[in-house]
Amino acid sequence: MVRWKAEAIWEAVSPLLPTFSVEILPEIDSTNTELMRRARAGQLEPVLLVAERQSAGRGRLGRTWSSGGDATQTDGGSLPSLTFSLGLPLVPQDWSGLSLAVGLSVVESLHPALQLKWPNDVWLQDRKLAGILIETANVGDVRYAVIGVGINILPRGDVPRLSTLPAALCEVLPNVDAPTALALVTAPLVNAIRRFASEGFGPLRTAFHARDLLYGRELVCSDGVTGIARGVDAIGALLVHTDHGLKKITSSEVSVRPVPAPTASTP
Ligand code: BTN
Repeated sequence: MVRWKAEAIWEAVSPLLPTFSVEILPEIDSTNTELMRRARAGQLEPVLLVAERQSAGRGRLGRTWSSGGDATQTDGGSLPSLTFSLGLPLVPQDWSGLSLAVGLSVVESLHPALQLKWPNDVWLQDRKLAGILIETANVGDVRYAVIGVGINILPRGDVPRLSTLPAALCEVLPNVDAPTALALVTAPLVNAIRRFASEGFGPLRTAFHARDLLYGRELVCSDGVTGIARGVDAIGALLVHTDHGLKKITSSEVSVRPVPAPTASTP
């Protein structure tokens, strides 16, 4: 059995979000899909939905999100990953940069060694540790945001067919488990979202640069742009120094990849 710290999370967050609730499910297709379904059916209260297992986890750009691990780990009370979504009505002055603000809050809550790969992937030592998927539903006058986060807690038991190698939080926090990680990230995340809603991304730019995995690195974008990453602007657009000048990448449909440093070859 997994011992979630649901009550402590509720006590920390409910003063910030009245009518907030915490819900833990043993299994669901996807916490994001479920909160989007609920929002479209008119359930618009703020909620933290945690799933111990997702059967159809989704990632950005139509990808799937697999939690790794196996049933043995789950039965033993040690989940291989943390998967949750935070749903809440949101009225920011400007939505640009929300995903960066969320990623920044997650890394700052967990460990100084974690970095961000624009727009919001969490990496550790050039491997992916966590992913974030933000979706919104317009229901009447309300825009409901669903912020889904998946964090690898333990090393994967399987051999993943992923383009990027996975990292796990236990590499930097040896005794961490999914409930502890959830308790670390939730209240700061709610605070960060509230602050973003009133102040936008601008005040977070310096903190983002301090965690920016791409800064100064050569990169390739899925739309063909190549160049050297130069950080982000005040609305969170990625700045790329190309042969044709400085380009701003705003589209979340574009994926970027650092060019691996050449390995020394032996004669
Ligand atoms: C990505 O890296 O492409 C984003 C991955 C987001 C995964 C999380 S796990 C909880 C929530 N439910 C989902 O189906 N996806 C997000």
